[in-house]
Amino acid sequence: MISVDAMEWFALIEHVILTVFMISLVSVFVSEGWPGIARITLIFLKTLPGFQHTVDMFVKREVNDFVKQLREEGGKSKKELEKTPPRVTLPEKGISADILREEMTKINKNKIKTDAGKIFALVYTMDDDNFKLQKDAYDMFTQKSGVSVKHDALVKEFHHAFMHENALNPMMFPSLRRFETEIVSMCADMLNGDEKVVGSLTSGGTESILMAVKTYRDRARKLYPDIVHPEMVAPITIHPAFEKAAHYFNLTIVHVPIDDDFRVNVDKYKQAVTKNTVALLASATQYCHGVVDPIEEIAAIATETGIPFHVDACFGGFMLPWVEKLGYPVPKFDFRLDGVTSMSADLHKYGYTSKGSSVVLYRNAEIRKYQIFAYGGWPGGLFGSPSMAGTRPGGNIAASWVALRHLGKDGYLKMAKSLMKITKKLTDGIKKIPGLKILGDPSMTCFAIAASDPSLDLLAVADVMETKGWKMERQQFPTSIHCTILPQHLSIADQLLADFADATKKVLNGEVKSLPSASSMYGMLAKIPDKAIVNDVIVEFFSEIYKQ
Ligand SMILES: *Cc1c(COP(=O)(O)O)cnc(C)c1O
Ligand SMILES: *[C@@H]1O[C@H](CO)[C@@H](O)[C@H](O)[C@H]1NC(C)=O
Repeated sequence: MISVDAMEWFALIEHVILTVFMISLVSVFVSEGWPGIARITLIFLKTLPGFQHTVDMFVKREVNDFVKQLREEGGKSKKELEKTPPRVTLPEKGISADILREEMTKINKNKIKTDAGKIFALVYTMDDDNFKLQKDAYDMFTQKSGVSVKHDALVKEFHHAFMHENALNPMMFPSLRRFETEIVSMCADMLNGDEKVVGSLTSGGTESILMAVKTYRDRARKLYPDIVHPEMVAPITIHPAFEKAAHYFNLTIVHVPIDDDFRVNVDKYKQAVTKNTVALLASATQYCHGVVDPIEEIAAIATETGIPFHVDACFGGFMLPWVEKLGYPVPKFDFRLDGVTSMSADLHKYGYTSKGSSVVLYRNAEIRKYQIFAYGGWPGGLFGSPSMAGTRPGGNIAASWVALRHLGKDGYLKMAKSLMKITKKLTDGIKKIPGLKILGDPSMTCFAIAASDPSLDLLAVADVMETKGWKMERQQFPTSIHCTILPQHLSIADQLLADFADATKKVLNGEVKSLPSASSMYGMLAKIPDKAIVNDVIVEFFSEIYKQ
């Protein structure tokens, strides 16, 4: 019960508040006029419960109407727009180059002509000869994907047709917006996400990862303002792009050791989670040894604690789904697991498109909002951008779209089948060479070779291999040689195994001393316990090597 006294008090307080409000209104009106009144009223309204909700609803409605109008301008009828379009997935069977070319012709007919002089931003054109040269240079320096000559030609064709278009403004080039949303949709479906999964196309795995980390940092800032030292938990094998993200965005990574199978230790992982943890991280597969972290177990921690969980499938995202369909044992690693809130997958690796293409996917649009950057105060106009890049190259977007559609599910499956066969041939062969072994039990088309004989100097083996013309990928903790397998490795598999056998025998027999090469640098640095010194050497190296 509230006494009459209390009621009187409330009335008095209300009276005082209203009086203060009126006085401030009058004084603001005197000094600033009507805009001042609007400002003060807004400040007052903001204190009312439910106000933010009303604003959110208003913003949503206005934006929806605006976007709808834009799409109508894009040639779609009202009726078409009412219907939710069917979700775009990878075609079951790859679509022929001829049909895709026809689609491109249609798109080209409708799109704004960048050389017609009607647009005033985003595109910088030059004469055709210059562009022809640029295309030739691009063709010369684009690696073969290994799928087929025809596939590569089609990817280049789409790249060149869109190479001067800019996805910075999603309204100027509707075809780029369509390509991007369809690519994201195809990837989400491939990784078993439902209709709610959204994402962005980025310039590569690193940008995808930078965006995921920034998203979770900003989400924590909003939802858990008490966290002043945000942390992420990650296996020591997590890709350095996460270390870069932590460095750029001022978060700390708590590193968790791996077990003998090269997967992160779940108990230690659990112990590393604190009240400051803003994201959990793991890989499917990790790059170093090609094994899938215990994603299911970490997803359970995520569900239990409500902490978001990013699965880095930059490497495995375009391989594991097909390897699994082929019947090989693959631990669950994708959106089928409730705790997984985001994933990254690189199109420019096993997606077989040209360099500069990756996706970052989120379980729902609510999470992705934290990724988007907005700045409404620029004299040049309202600015918004979904990812790190401002200008985003249309060529790569078109090339990625056509690579996915041309290959289709059957194309990816076929590639995975033959690559797994080559991988098995190579790992079986390596295991038979006295002194060598394969680390862990790789889930897909890559592996790491190590010494099974403790007296074998593996770095010396790498040196001898280089004298035979091979390029070796040296790894540390433990010393190993990394191999990522592609179609071109089939024809050289026997030669590779013979050369490894010969090099290993020579080193074991003491026929070669370690050669002066990258290995000696690696060997020396591995012995320095102070990583700050090692980092100084790396910085010095990069500073030198990028001199003309
Ligand atoms: C390649 C890779 C990345 C980084 O991708 P980039 O495209 O090189 O930036 C991240 N994670 C894993 C597991 C990778 O293999
Ligand atoms: C980085 O984070 C730490 C807390 O972990 C904080 O003390 C520091 O001020 C931050 N630096 C910047 C530049 O924000």
